[in-house]
Amino acid sequence: MLLDRFFEKGRQFLGCRYPILCGAMTWVSNPQLVSHLGRCGGFGLLAGGNAPVAVLQQQIEETRSLSADPFGVNLITIAPAYAEQLDMVCRMKCAVVVFAGSIPRENDIHRAKESGARVICFAPTEQLALKLIKMGTDALILEGSEAGGHIGPVSLTVLIQQILFKVDSVPIFVAGGIATGRMMAHLLMMGAAGIQMGTRFVMSEECAVHPEFKETFRRAKARDAVATPQFDSRLPVIPVRALKNEGTDAFGKLQLDLIHKLETQAMDRMEAQFEVERFWMGALRHAVMDGDTKKGSLMAGQSVGLADRILPLQGIFDELLGDAENELQRLAQQLGE
Ligand SMILES: Cc1cc2nc3c(=O)[nH]c(=O)nc-3n(C[C@H](O)[C@H](O)[C@H](O)COP(=O)(O)O)c2cc1C
Repeated sequence: MLLDRFFEKGRQFLGCRYPILCGAMTWVSNPQLVSHLGRCGGFGLLAGGNAPVAVLQQQIEETRSLSADPFGVNLITIAPAYAEQLDMVCRMKCAVVVFAGSIPRENDIHRAKESGARVICFAPTEQLALKLIKMGTDALILEGSEAGGHIGPVSLTVLIQQILFKVDSVPIFVAGGIATGRMMAHLLMMGAAGIQMGTRFVMSEECAVHPEFKETFRRAKARDAVATPQFDSRLPVIPVRALKNEGTDAFGKLQLDLIHKLETQAMDRMEAQFEVERFWMGALRHAVMDGDTKKGSLMAGQSVGLADRILPLQGIFDELLGDAENELQRLAQQLGE
């Protein structure tokens, strides 16, 4: 397979057959999904999110009991239980730790590495990519603003040119808007060590979200996955990409209410930002677990427009790998001419 030579770097790094990661998704990434991914040869990530430390520990133990394949844990550095989660993840000697949310402290990167984990960080700019490498990260993820969930401001196309084309000292994984094997082939040829997808894996049979959540994804078009605006610089909010519904409007109203509370000093900025994150976690839970697709948060990438069938995970892998290999063969032939 031509794909093999492009997979080598990511394969070595992650210790799995295919460097295809299923990004951590709060309320979505459970031990079943993560272990099934491992069985298909991919790499799953549990989501620390807002989980109490005991819950996350139980998920790590359950995933280990379901399969011996390697997997990782994604920790959000601004989550309420982050410090305890990191202590526990180090104690549990996880294979890979992904730091998300904000730039992690250098000491946290070192602690994770000393526990035996390989560390991956999100790099939003070239400067930060270089800084994170200096701080000791073992690999980077570039996630474009096409992605689902909390997003950065820059598209994957630009991040590729700013970072992937310039930095070659650590493996770089790419995410955001990816849903096809053909695209994966081109990203690997551009130098990516592997890819990460979220939305496409939600549309797997093994993903235990509410059937209504999947049905809404199935019908959605790429343009329905919109990023939330920030109304006032006094209340900085990280944009969230989700399918537009009443929940999106409710977030607008919440922002206005919080801005009013800031103006009248009924609340400080930290509390207001905490309220914003609480809103998202609650709203996502309503949609994912209860199937409230009207008021809940339907976090999805623009790739939702390419994910219109529910398939078994093995079927998704077969399709991705087959299409990627065909694309490489096609190009090899074209270039050989
Ligand atoms: C429902 C949902 C929840 C997500 N939750 C998280 C999370 O808790 N932590 C995180 O780092 N990324 C989270 N993400 C982002 C994914 O891990 C992944 O990087 C993203 O979905 C990639 O873009 P794509 O959806 O176009 O494939 C979430 C995405 C979705 C769709």
